[in-house]
Amino acid sequence: MALKDTIQTLMTQMEGLKAANAEELEALRIKYLSKKGEITALFNEFRSVPAEEKRELGQLLNHLRQTAETRINDLREKINDQMAGDQSVNDLTRTPDPIALGTRHPLSLVREEIEEIFSRIGFTIAQGPEVEDDKHVYGMLNFAPEHPARDMQDTFFIEKEIGVQKPTDVLLRSHTSSVQTRVMTSQKPPIRVLCPGRVYRNEAISARAHCFFHQVEGLYIDKNVSFADLREALLYFSKEMFGPETKIRLRPSYFPFTEPSAEMDISCNICGGTGCSFCKGTGWVEILGCGMVDPNVLEACGIDSKVYSGFAFGMGVERITNLKYRVKDLRLFSENDVRFLRQFESC
Ligand code: DAH
Repeated sequence: MALKDTIQTLMTQMEGLKAANAEELEALRIKYLSKKGEITALFNEFRSVPAEEKRELGQLLNHLRQTAETRINDLREKINDQMAGDQSVNDLTRTPDPIALGTRHPLSLVREEIEEIFSRIGFTIAQGPEVEDDKHVYGMLNFAPEHPARDMQDTFFIEKEIGVQKPTDVLLRSHTSSVQTRVMTSQKPPIRVLCPGRVYRNEAISARAHCFFHQVEGLYIDKNVSFADLREALLYFSKEMFGPETKIRLRPSYFPFTEPSAEMDISCNICGGTGCSFCKGTGWVEILGCGMVDPNVLEACGIDSKVYSGFAFGMGVERITNLKYRVKDLRLFSENDVRFLRQFESC
């Protein structure tokens, strides 16, 4: 057959070229384009064509080779795509796509650490509602009816009818001490609970204040519970949380639900008590409020104050977290900025 006709025949074959898999494709490549392939053979033949036909035949031959190469490359891509698709469905040994794991929130880490420390001395977890009533948040905790904590500046009241501002009994709890009243009215002493949770206050949001934050409340009621027990429990907690060299100091204070009441400072864990800008040169930082449960509270909750006594304490989780991790701006805790959250990956 004349060279021109052979080129035409092969050209037609190229249009119908098919391969079901990589082996078949390789066989085609060898058949047409390898050193001993049919198209390569035509180039050898081409050497002996008369000079006047060289130009036309040369062009046809080059076009044939290009068409063959393009066709084979297209088929190769198709087969590769198919293989990739099949693998993702069927190949169970394939390395999985990496799952982007999130990180624990610093407040959760610290809350869990507080829970863990107190669980070692017998405290269990108690929960209460965030939407509360006046009785559990204030009334039963010995807050006088005119106490300023109920002020609209501090407490968020929930309107019963939307848009109708009437005095209401439904509010967002402003402290976790409300869980004390719920536990004392539903359990009999001895009671030893830790009440973690979110609380709400009507504060302007800034680096140092937020309209919601987190507290952990502690309550221990039994026969013969004394202030010395309170001090020991808090000293144990402080050493476990901030290191064995930590000292504590109790300063007299006032809370309606405890008598006597105190505020507790720990020796500044940044300067070790020598005085720095964090502790304002005093060597001490306040971390919680505490005291002996007021007999009026026990009685309001149906516990005989002549038989039982107890202590309570309440601390801010954000405050403890700041001390541990030096987070300067409270807003970072609720902004969900992964650049902030990722920093706690290894904690
Ligand atoms: N409820 C107090 C507050 O939110 C904290 C507190 C102080 C809780 C003394 C207590 C306590 O149980 O004994 O500021």
